[in-house]
Amino acid sequence: MIKTMNLLKKLNLKRINPGASSGPSWWSTTTNAGQILSYNPANGKVIATVNQCSKDDFQHIVQKAQEAFLTWRETPAPQRGEFVRQIGERLREYKSTLGTLVAMETGKSKQEGDGEVQEMIDMADLAVGQSRMLYGNTMHSERAHHRMYEQWHPLGIVGVISAFNFPVAVWAWNAFNAAVCGDTVIWKPSSKTPLSAIAIQQICNEVMQQNHLTGIFSLMISEDKDLATAFTANRQIPLISFTGSTAVGHKVSQVVSQRLGRCLLECSGNNAVIIDETADLKLAIPSVIFGALGTAGQRCTSTRRLFIHESLYETVTSHLINTYQKITIGDPLDQKNLMGPLIDEKAVIQFNETIEAIKKSGGEILYGGHALDRPGFFVEPTIATAKNDWDIVQSETFAPILYVMQYSDFHEAVQMQNSVCQGLSSALFTNHLKHAEQFLAASGSDCGIANINIGTSGAEIGGAFGGEKATGGGREAGSDVWKTYMRRQTNTINWSDKLPLAQGIEFDIR
Ligand code: UN1
Repeated sequence: MIKTMNLLKKLNLKRINPGASSGPSWWSTTTNAGQILSYNPANGKVIATVNQCSKDDFQHIVQKAQEAFLTWRETPAPQRGEFVRQIGERLREYKSTLGTLVAMETGKSKQEGDGEVQEMIDMADLAVGQSRMLYGNTMHSERAHHRMYEQWHPLGIVGVISAFNFPVAVWAWNAFNAAVCGDTVIWKPSSKTPLSAIAIQQICNEVMQQNHLTGIFSLMISEDKDLATAFTANRQIPLISFTGSTAVGHKVSQVVSQRLGRCLLECSGNNAVIIDETADLKLAIPSVIFGALGTAGQRCTSTRRLFIHESLYETVTSHLINTYQKITIGDPLDQKNLMGPLIDEKAVIQFNETIEAIKKSGGEILYGGHALDRPGFFVEPTIATAKNDWDIVQSETFAPILYVMQYSDFHEAVQMQNSVCQGLSSALFTNHLKHAEQFLAASGSDCGIANINIGTSGAEIGGAFGGEKATGGGREAGSDVWKTYMRRQTNTINWSDKLPLAQGIEFDIR
């Protein structure tokens, strides 16, 4: 507990109030909207208690974010970039401390916690550069002495709903792009990871204060379902970016599309690796293992299915089993551990139910399969034989369970990989040029991410991140994703003395 208190003190986690005046609480003085407990999944103990945001707080936050937008949209984009640059600097300063808090609250390893903060820093750098590159096209008009071009304007308030597994990085992907584009952001983090969000908001508040700004970034913490619906239904929030399960994404998109708002969805994945007969196993095996049990299998990019060419099936599975025996499981803050706990008790129950379903379907547990009998929510990393069309294999279980399947024909393997309703990430390990090209062709992987000789998880921020089908179709982070946070305007200017109509239409008023 002393360690936790020191950590929170180091992060200066005190009052961050959306509206009210003062008080002893860490982020909000509102006390009539209930509280959320933040747990350490490595021991099941409470880290801190957080006051929830009330309906009035929410109204206040929206009003402040809207007011801030009116000035922010007029602020030159490179100046908006400078604000994000300063946040990136603070993240560098606090990287290790924030990484520890993320590890403590999510149960991911300290190395992965630090990695997540690095992902925010990378995203800040990208957004700073982007702030000078919000380019629009110019077109040649079909009419003489007419000029046509398009420009990009900010949208307004962007609502970001993030998940527990990446409690800070996914916010940064959205928030930094949105801010340089001239939007303001309201963040609704997972109620399982409120402290990580408060720590980031605290940093933002300090940088906002130094720059005489308010309301660019704000936070609303609540597990009230009605408030969540009010958030997604609010017409003052033109874009909702949602990360989470397909089931919840479906509800969010229904509410947002009801008002013809925009949605950016990053939902469930069901990612596969194919190891063909020419694969370099020195690359393939560690990639599959990191993909399957990094963040205890709770990434949307986690490797869940493994298709192995029949000639390598025995070799690969026995190699995996041997290596799984060496995986150190335990306190995420102890850097010798490679795997931490699942997020909560419910996740352990789901893990157990999945193991039962595998056995019932006729699958064999090649390794693991048990929850660990110790405090916290630990389970064994698990390898099981399976068939691609089993219900349990078709759905995403957020746990370190890897289904292994063998194949004889490469095209059949690609087909099986695509035969799920999700479409986020995919990978092929090969030294066969034609297989690589076939995998990346239009008839190859149907996912938003397709890698060669790199695993399914651990994407860099420079690319567009997201997936197809039930994954939701949204894209976040790099490439030209910034356009999602802006509205496009086409401008045609007539600098002639005539009024020619497009398509050569004659409209002669005499
Ligand atoms: C997620 O799990 O929602 O590619 C995001 C990765 C990370 C992001 C995962 N950079 O695994």
